[in-house]
Amino acid sequence: MALLENSLLIIGIAMCALALLPLAFWSVQSWAALRHNQLQFRESQRLLRQQILNANVHRSQTPEAPRSDDTHAAANQITPKAASPVPHPIVANEVIPAEDTGAAVLADGTWKGFRKFRVQKLVKETLTCTSVYLEPVDEKPIAHFQSGQHLTLRFQIPGQPKPVIRCYSLSDGPGKPCYRITVKAIAAEQPGVVSNFINDHLQQGDVIESKAPAGSFCLDLNDSRPIVMLAGGIGVTPMISMIDSILNHSPNRLAILLYGVRDKSELAFVEELRRTKETNKNLHVVYCVSAPSPDDGQDKGYQVEGRVSIELIQQLLPHNDCQFYLCGPSTFMQTLGEGLKEWGVPDDHVHSEAFGPSSISKSRSAPTVPEVAGAIEVAFTQSNQTVKWDPNCESLLELAESNGINIDFGCRAGSCGTCATELLAGDVTYPEDLQVDCEPGQCLTCVARPVGSIKLGTLP
Ligand SMILES: Cc1cc2nc3c(=O)[nH]c(=O)nc-3n(C[C@H](O)[C@H](O)[C@H](O)COP(=O)(O)OP(=O)(O)OC[C@H]3O[C@@H](n4cnc5c(N)ncnc54)[C@H](O)[C@@H]3O)c2cc1C
Ligand code: FES
Repeated sequence: MALLENSLLIIGIAMCALALLPLAFWSVQSWAALRHNQLQFRESQRLLRQQILNANVHRSQTPEAPRSDDTHAAANQITPKAASPVPHPIVANEVIPAEDTGAAVLADGTWKGFRKFRVQKLVKETLTCTSVYLEPVDEKPIAHFQSGQHLTLRFQIPGQPKPVIRCYSLSDGPGKPCYRITVKAIAAEQPGVVSNFINDHLQQGDVIESKAPAGSFCLDLNDSRPIVMLAGGIGVTPMISMIDSILNHSPNRLAILLYGVRDKSELAFVEELRRTKETNKNLHVVYCVSAPSPDDGQDKGYQVEGRVSIELIQQLLPHNDCQFYLCGPSTFMQTLGEGLKEWGVPDDHVHSEAFGPSSISKSRSAPTVPEVAGAIEVAFTQSNQTVKWDPNCESLLELAESNGINIDFGCRAGSCGTCATELLAGDVTYPEDLQVDCEPGQCLTCVARPVGSIKLGTLP
C-alpha cells in the first residue's frame, strides 16, 4: 500500500514538474532577452557617448561651418511661402498655365495656391498609419523643401459640407520625384475626419490638392553639433525626412533618434531605419516603448521600456551641446521642452513642431495681452456680429467658434495660413515664441488674440 502511495506521489510530482517546465523555460528565455536588451542598450550608450565626445573634440578644433543667412531666413520663415526650388535643368522660370493642375506652376516646380496631386502609392506603415506618395497631376517638377517642412492639403471628403484642410509633415527627404506624407488614424471618441479617411478610404489614383511645402521647423544643415531628434508617436514623420537629409548632406554628423510609442506595434519605419542605419554608423536609433504588450515576443526590437525622458537623454548624452528637434503629443513636448531648459540647453538649440491644437495650446506660451480699459470688442463684420472678447479663449478662432461664426482652419497652429482674415481695425498679438508670417492687413485667427477692440473683415 505504502509503495503504491509513494509511486503515486512521485508520479504527481513528476507531472507537476512537467507542467511547470514550459513556465520555467519561458522565464529563463525572457530573462535572457531582457539581459540581452540591457547589454545592447549599454553598449550603444557607451558607443554613442564616445562618438559624441569625439565629435565635440573634432568640432572645437575646426571652425564652425559658416551659417548661411539664406538658410536661417528660410528656417525662420513660416507659411504660406513656397520653399526654395529644387535644382532643375530648366533654366527659365516661365509660368506653366494652370490648365487642370489647379495652380500655375513655375518651371522649377514652385507654385502658389493649391495644386493637384495624384496618389501614386499607399503604404501601410503600421495597422493605423499609412504613407501616401503624391505625384503632381501636371507631371511638372515639384518644389524642393527643407526637411521638417509640411504640406497643407485640401480634401473633398464625402459627407463633409465643404473641403477639409489639414497639414502633414513630409516624411521623406527632399529631391525625390514625389512627396510622401505619413498619417496616423485618430480613433478618439470623435474619430479624426481626414486621418481616418486617408487610412480607410483613400485609393491609388485619387486626386488631392496641396499648397507648396512650408513651415519653420527645418533642419539646420550648416551647424555641426550632434542632432538629437525626440519623437513621440507620429511625431517621427519630420525626423525621417531629417535623417535622409543628414545622411545625404552631412553623413559625418552624429544623429540620434529617440522614438517613443506606447507599444511596439505602433513603431513605424522600423525596416527603413534599419536599412539606413546599416549604411551609416553615425546614426543611432533608440526605440522606447512605454506600455509593452505581452505579444511583443522574445525579439523585443526596442531598447528602452519606458518613455523618452530627460533622464534617458542625460544618460545617453555626455553633454548638452547638441541641436534638439522635438515633435510629439502635448505632454511629450511640454515635459521634454522644460527638461531641456532646466538642463541648460539654450532656446535656439531647441526646435519644435506642434501637430495641432492639442500640442500647441499647452506647449506654447499664451500671448501676453496688455491691460486695456473697458471690455474688448471683436467685430466680425462679414457675419455682422460684434462680441465681447472672452479671455478664456485661446484665440480669435476659438472666440468665433464659440459664437457660431465659421472660420476655415487647417493646422490651428499658425502654420498653414488657412485661417488668415482681414484685420480692418485694431491690433492683435501672437504667442511670444511663434513667428507668424501673414500678409499685411491680415491676421492668423487660430493663434491671434486682440489687443484692444478690433474689427475683422473678409473671412477665408
Ligand atoms: C505642421 C503639422 C504637421 C502635421 N504632420 C502630421 C503627420 O505627419 N502625420 C499625422 O498623422 N498628423 C500630422 N499632423 C496632424 C494633422 O494635421 C491632423 O490634425 C490630424 O491628422 C487629425 O486630423 P483629423 O481630421 O483626422 O481629426 P479632426 O477631425 O480634426 O479631429 C478629430 C478628433 O481628434 C482630436 N485631434 C485633432 N488633432 C489631433 C492630434 N494631432 N492629436 C490628437 N488628437 C487630435 C480632436 O480634438 C478631435 O477630438 C500635423 C499637423 C500640423 C499642424
Ligand atoms: S494658420 Fe493654419 S489654421 Fe491658422
